[in-house]
Amino acid sequence: MAVLAEGPGRAQVIGSGPNGVQPADLERAVGALTEAKLVAFPTETVYGLGADASRAEAVAGIFAAKGRPTGHPLIVHMADSSGLDRFGVEPSAMSVKLANAFWPGPLTVVVNRSNAVAPETVGGMSTVGLRVPDHPVALALLRAFGGPIAAPSANRFGSVSPTTAQHVLDDLGDRVDLVIDGGPAAIGVESTIVDVSGSEPLLLRPGGISDVELEAVLGQPVGTPVQGGLPDDAPDDVRAPGMLASHYAPSVPVELIEADRVAGTLSAGTTAGLRLGVVGPCPVAHECSWPLPTDASGYAAGLYSSLRAADRAGLDRLLVIAPTTGSLLPAVLDRLTKAAAPTS
Ligand code: TXA
Ligand code: MG
Repeated sequence: MAVLAEGPGRAQVIGSGPNGVQPADLERAVGALTEAKLVAFPTETVYGLGADASRAEAVAGIFAAKGRPTGHPLIVHMADSSGLDRFGVEPSAMSVKLANAFWPGPLTVVVNRSNAVAPETVGGMSTVGLRVPDHPVALALLRAFGGPIAAPSANRFGSVSPTTAQHVLDDLGDRVDLVIDGGPAAIGVESTIVDVSGSEPLLLRPGGISDVELEAVLGQPVGTPVQGGLPDDAPDDVRAPGMLASHYAPSVPVELIEADRVAGTLSAGTTAGLRLGVVGPCPVAHECSWPLPTDASGYAAGLYSSLRAADRAGLDRLLVIAPTTGSLLPAVLDRLTKAAAPTS
């Protein structure tokens, strides 16, 4: 396993080999969670910043470390779907269908919240987003801990999610107690979030499970609550950071561009003395500093690493070519649109 650059921070890194985490390391991680500390861990989507979801003082650490407004709800991770009854109240038939079909997997189901989840975990909302992640390390941790683990993506609020342990250290190395390294996240974009707390299912965030797959299981259309994001001052009961117009954004300004405009834009940029970089499937291979495939699944797996690398390259502007095919296309286009949106 590569040696990670831990830097001056307080984070300890626990390696996880092909057979998962060593029992002694797992014990250490459970001990940290029990002491209301923060443990970052891998999932199949992105790395999560975990804390005991049943305790207010534990989740307070998450909000502080991320710089996340306390009104923004956290996703609660569980070892298996029995948690739907424990952490949700009278889960609807829709939520049971979705859990049976997609858990463990990249789907967060929003249901009415039980008292087993601290109100602070969900920013005081009456609902909670629940998910069983499909990752051996995450599941081992959840089983060993035996309780719900609140975990947003382990990055500073509003920035690009981490898909490796190194990304977590880069962002939060001085603010997290333990990082479990499980290698690169397989999917690379966050879970799909579907709200089934009301009478109609609503897609709050496209992700690893497509709306077509959701509708096939539910036998009914899935609505979208808001187009184009919500303003920062939206009321708490509809606010979700992933729904803000600007999110998932690197520091370098991002411009979405058609592939056939890349060559002309690069030469105009050079003439103007601008440092430009290109991410995506380039028509001419050498034009792309961070090449990604046209298929959205392969693209998603490399997207956040590419955006982070581009951020370190000291560019004036990053040109991004979107993928063109695959079931993850809506999720990737959503993230690219938000990465390219102005922050104010
Ligand atoms: O793939 C994922 O979902 C990752 C991994 C770590 O599981 N987690 C993640 O968490 O992306 P976070 O906090 O970065 O994004 C969670 C999104 C936010 O937009 C949040 O507002 C929304 O889920 N959310 C959580 N609970 C909600 C609820 N009760 N109602 C509406 N939105 C909710
Ligand atoms: Mg996030």
